[in-house]
Amino acid sequence: MKKIVTILGARPQFIKAGSVSREIGKCSELREVIVHTGQHYDENMSDVFFLEMKIPKPDYSLGIGGGGHGAMTGRMIEKIEGVLIQEKPDFVMVYGDTNSTLAGAIAASKLHIKIIHIEAGLRSFNMAMPEEVNRILTDRISTLLFCPTERAVKNLEGECYTAWNTGAEIILCGDVMQDGALFYKQHSCQPTNLDIKNEYVLCTIHRAENTDNPKRLSSIISALNEIAKDKQIILPLHPRTKKILETQNFDLSNLTVIDPVGYLNMVWLIDNCDMVMTDSGGLQKEAYFFSKPCLTMRDETEWVELVEGGYNKLVGAVTESILQAYNGFAFNSDFKGDLYGGGKASKCIVESLLK
Ligand code: UD1
Ligand code: UDP
Repeated sequence: MKKIVTILGARPQFIKAGSVSREIGKCSELREVIVHTGQHYDENMSDVFFLEMKIPKPDYSLGIGGGGHGAMTGRMIEKIEGVLIQEKPDFVMVYGDTNSTLAGAIAASKLHIKIIHIEAGLRSFNMAMPEEVNRILTDRISTLLFCPTERAVKNLEGECYTAWNTGAEIILCGDVMQDGALFYKQHSCQPTNLDIKNEYVLCTIHRAENTDNPKRLSSIISALNEIAKDKQIILPLHPRTKKILETQNFDLSNLTVIDPVGYLNMVWLIDNCDMVMTDSGGLQKEAYFFSKPCLTMRDETEWVELVEGGYNKLVGAVTESILQAYNGFAFNSDFKGDLYGGGKASKCIVESLLK
């Protein structure tokens, strides 16, 4: 029996664990111990996912959320180290690129425990993003690097990963978020108490480069207000964005602003919308999984195959570019391809762990 300690902390990680932990749970040769760092802590940013997606309750809840990124990461490393000393796992598994990811990886490496990185190899090539730093450092010290895309594999090969870390293995497994989108679609449900028009755009904004830059944030809000004259805009608001918007005088009255929703509602909202507008990493792919065009309000993306395929248009945070693309971009509407592995990523990961 191999023991894995999984580190979770932020919303997208719960959603990814929904698929991988379910697959691990089917396997008698693996035992998973879940650690929740507490990075996301509101009921609608955390508990709702464990409940709705039937993710096993965390074995450890560290309660470390809020504060500066350095302090948060440091406190996480210290507490995760304590858990690892107690649990003595064969592997530590981390997802994606958050502070919880990096903290889990560093704590494991100090104790010489092998690290499994799910969503390895993604790059935005923008070192100003905290996520880019987190993912590069995590990849550097991981042993099993599970890549969602061919581009991610190429990125790692380009950085000569296996040459300097001879024990490391790069595995193309596909995207675990596609597993989740396919599985939870059957359980998706319409949000109650929400007046939804026939046609609407589903929008999310939370990326620091947008929320913490008043010019970018105000350009995005201006564009959304303009688009709202044409179509309803449903905006489930991340707490980070909510806090910042509350301190500024933006007119949001034309937008349908709601609290963050659980994944089953979110899948319904994606599946029924006309278009997605976002700066989220996960939502860009989900738009593709549900055959929806997507405007990405960033200057670059890790999911380059979506842009190259014409499914996704990068529009930055300039009002005119956003409006121009909304009104006139010729999206590719042929979604028959299979850019992300077709929903078998979690199985592939578990099979690799058993080898
Ligand atoms: C984090 C990740 C980002 C990921 C996002 C997913 C890092 C560096 N960033 O960004 O990669 O895309 O999660 O959503 O790890 N807050 C609450 N309640 C919560 C959670 C957060 O009020 O449940 C507020 C707090 O004021 C907090 C702020 O949001 O300080 C930002 O949270 P934080 O986890 O630091 O970063 P995110 O923007 O959520
Ligand atoms: N999501 C959700 N409810 C919301 C907003 C987003 O369930 O109100 C889901 C979304 O469908 C996707 C994931 O959260 O699966 C993306 O997380 P987020 O945008 O917070 O982080 P990122 O993917 O950018 O790291």
